Amino acid sequence: MTNQVRGVIARSVNAPVEVVTINVPDPGPGEALVQVQACGVCHTDLHYRDGGINNDFPFLLGHEAAGVVEAVGPDVTEVAPGDFVILNWRAVCGQCRACKRGEPQYCFNTHNAKQKMTLEDGNELSPALGIGAFADKTLVAAGQCTKVDPSAPATVAGLLGCGVMAGLGAAVNTGGVHLGQSIAVIGCGGVGAAAIAGSRLANAAKIIAIDIDDRKLENAKQFGATHTINSKGLGVDDVVAAIQELTDGNGADVVVDAVGRPETYKQAFYGRDLAGTVVLVGVPNPELTLELPLIDFFGRGGALKSSWYGDCLPSRDFPMLIDLYLQGRLPLDKFVSEEIGIDDIEAAFTKMHSGDVLRSVVVL
Ligand SMILES: NC(=O)c1ccc[n+]([C@@H]2O[C@H](COP(=O)([O-])OP(=O)(O)OC[C@H]3O[C@@H](n4cnc5c(N)ncnc54)[C@H](O)[C@@H]3O)[C@@H](O)[C@H]2O)c1
Ligand SMILES: [Zn+2]
Ligand SMILES: [Zn+2]
Repeated sequence: MTNQVRGVIARSVNAPVEVVTINVPDPGPGEALVQVQACGVCHTDLHYRDGGINNDFPFLLGHEAAGVVEAVGPDVTEVAPGDFVILNWRAVCGQCRACKRGEPQYCFNTHNAKQKMTLEDGNELSPALGIGAFADKTLVAAGQCTKVDPSAPATVAGLLGCGVMAGLGAAVNTGGVHLGQSIAVIGCGGVGAAAIAGSRLANAAKIIAIDIDDRKLENAKQFGATHTINSKGLGVDDVVAAIQELTDGNGADVVVDAVGRPETYKQAFYGRDLAGTVVLVGVPNPELTLELPLIDFFGRGGALKSSWYGDCLPSRDFPMLIDLYLQGRLPLDKFVSEEIGIDDIEAAFTKMHSGDVLRSVVVL
């Protein structure tokens, strides 16, 4: 049987998104059908619409969501109808090289639903990050459903499904920031703000927010930034000097680049202390390149890391972060700038571009 529901699709490069009727199959083995309650609008949805991820149009957009399991396939035991879940894009396989060596957060073979959701004419949809949650219902692999405490509202719980987890994990998991350390975060949108919130949770002593937009810096203070730098118009050396001035002339122990451009990467690279760590979490445009003296890589020591999905393990991290939210220690609600309807996604992309919002969340 299939379910006919509303879904938001991107049909071709740069065409505005459309709300259409889609067919969502009932779950087969290993699958779950989820009634989506809320889904955040992430920068990556825009990358998909613009053809920046791949060319597998039409896409079913949306991937930062929470909802309730409606039905599961015959062999599914980990979730059941009625469970409140956050959808994740890291359903680990348990078999690959990474999983076998005890590092499932790097799983090289994550999985999604096997059956395809389609347009009414039968054309197969490519769900964004294997999720596709700007829809009343979506079909995912059961492992993509992470059960959490249902007392958290779906509008905030869903944020852990992508941007907040990516930023918070970049600082805490990948960067390993901890008690007493200094951290600088370049780019304070949803991802950078989450890196700041995570750094406060980890009791970093100095948290430096860097952005080109004063509104984002004001916001960053609410998440725990102790200092801010507006880098608009500043050269790499100026930004590095400003970071050093705030860190006894040394640079930060960890610098997170949540923008992903050569100039921000250089700020991160030179703005960290000797033996410090750089974490790249912003997704670079494929044509960008970086040129630096090789001796500087050697001479400064430390670690240069990239972070996908905050090196999270959904089953470990989502329930824990929801608990912290419910205790009032992780202000997930501050990320929600506005709640919108399924028809308002194009407008949300425009607001994301102009910096007017941290997160628009579609309520279904
Ligand atoms: N690695 C992952 O797993 C992962 C997951 C989700 C998102 N991302 C990526 O993270 C990045 C940030 O996402 P977001 O949702 O926070 O985006 P966003 O658009 O909400 O925020 C970007 C911020 O960077 C600031 N900025 C832009 N250029 C800058 C510059 N030169 N210097 C300093 N600040 C600058 C903007 O003012 C804005 O505040 C995107 O590239 C996104 O694709 C990565
Ligand atoms: Zn694996
Ligand atoms: Zn995302």
